[in-house]
Amino acid sequence: MSNKAIITSALPYANGEIHLGHVASTYLPADVTARFLKLKGVEAYYVCASDDFGTPILIQSEKEGKTPSEYVSYWNKRDYDDFTAFNINFDYFYKTSSTENIEFVQDVFKKLNDAGHIYEKEIIQFYCSNDKKFLPDRYVKGSCPYCKAEDQYSDLCESCGRVPEEISNPKCAICGQIPKKEKTTHYFFKLKNFGDSLSKWLEENKNLQKDVKKYVQNWIKSGLIDWDITRDITWGVPIPLDGAKGKVFYGWFDNHLAYISTALKFLNDKGIDGKEFWNSADIYHFIGKDIVYHHYLFLPAMRLGIDSEYKLPDYIPTRGHLTLQAKKISKSRNWYIGLREFLNYYPADYLRYYLVAINPYSQDDLNFDWDEFTNRINSELIGNLGNFVNRALGFTKKAYDGVIAESGDFDEKDKEALDQIKNLSSVIGELMQQNHLDRALKKIMEFSSFFNQYFQHKEPWKKGSGTENCVYLSVNAVRSLAIGVFPFIPESSQKIWEQLGFEGNVNDNHWNQISELGAKPGHRLGDVSPLFVKVEQADIEKYKKQLGPK
Ligand code: MF3
Ligand code: ZN
Repeated sequence: MSNKAIITSALPYANGEIHLGHVASTYLPADVTARFLKLKGVEAYYVCASDDFGTPILIQSEKEGKTPSEYVSYWNKRDYDDFTAFNINFDYFYKTSSTENIEFVQDVFKKLNDAGHIYEKEIIQFYCSNDKKFLPDRYVKGSCPYCKAEDQYSDLCESCGRVPEEISNPKCAICGQIPKKEKTTHYFFKLKNFGDSLSKWLEENKNLQKDVKKYVQNWIKSGLIDWDITRDITWGVPIPLDGAKGKVFYGWFDNHLAYISTALKFLNDKGIDGKEFWNSADIYHFIGKDIVYHHYLFLPAMRLGIDSEYKLPDYIPTRGHLTLQAKKISKSRNWYIGLREFLNYYPADYLRYYLVAINPYSQDDLNFDWDEFTNRINSELIGNLGNFVNRALGFTKKAYDGVIAESGDFDEKDKEALDQIKNLSSVIGELMQQNHLDRALKKIMEFSSFFNQYFQHKEPWKKGSGTENCVYLSVNAVRSLAIGVFPFIPESSQKIWEQLGFEGNVNDNHWNQISELGAKPGHRLGDVSPLFVKVEQADIEKYKKQLGPK
């Protein structure tokens, strides 16, 4: 593990609001990881940007009568505000349409071109004579030539995850007519050249998920095809060649380069040598499983193509999709929950807790279920964690005027409790480092539940001998929890810290301090009050009804 890290999450299209599906698979796991690494003392930066270019954005801005740049700047701000309300703590949030990115992309293209990885080819492109437009990507629908799935856009089959060379049974997505074919000159990236080096990279990188690697290796074995990186549209990064007038890069050529250009902009502005930092840091790209192809093939091949001037990713944590009440999320059928809307109902920490708890480090889909949300918040977050914190601190307030008394000799139970505290930072830390955020959170809850039982067993309210030990160890367990839950539920973490009577920010601590007994005899607690408010079934029934066709 390096003492530096750059964390990114798939750049959100500047094309509509962030919903629970986005944050579950990508932004939340990345944020939890970034917070954890920072606590570990790693110089970690979490950077992101809006993904501004591409055909769908152009189509939508045309529909709304706005210029594409007006359109994307609205969504850039809106997305950023929603993420912030959810405590997704980017160190920097920029945009793919920045001058820095445009220049960076053009420069990478020139290097690829000089190295012989680009060629020009006259191709036949779908053209709609009704709309008088070339029809790339989402402008065409049809069936997938590989898996035969119907009703797929020409740039990605959502059913098998592949990018078809040519979609079958094409129809213009604007007017529905069968398009004609017209000649145009396009630039191609020789992805074929990279089969062996990609394979080697996949093999050697032990941090990539095994199951994902396996099917990417299979794609490579079955043969890569060169990649058309040109679009005949007006919105994109201009191709920097004479004779390429009116042509721009495909959005997937430029967007992931904004991981680098955004990091460089941020670091250089801070007075850090961005390139040197990038190349000595652990690089994490958090993604959802729909964009594996792009992140395990296109992205590394392009970096290899410029001689790994910027190192390839160490981690590409890939997670499944969120379904809602066991059905696929769909904006058009109103089967989704906007992040902003949800945060009108419940605190960010409730959603953060639930979405981490149900989200394994794998590509399995996960499901948001209102009843399960209610149960887990009420019984785990509130019934277990909130209850223990309030019990331990409340008792100390009442019985000792909020001051930790001198403790005596530890009995067996106390020793067991002490061990729990001593081991906590490494037990959870290891799971976090392996990306098993859900299991780490579960361990924290087990720790809390252990202490609930410990407290119950010691019966401090009877004021027998050993009561001081119980208070001392319980308050210290609350302190361990305060730091340990910071990556997951940062607002509650800070509240616990303040109720403990400590000053400053909880994240000024080092992760290892979780396992210290930092609340000393004589220490005075702050004001103590319940951390959480219960989720009411009646409210949940109301929210359920708001979903679905209107
Ligand atoms: N905007 C893309 C999507 O939502 C993700 C882009 S990630 C990037 O699918 F790395 F390629 F930028
Ligand atoms: Zn398919």
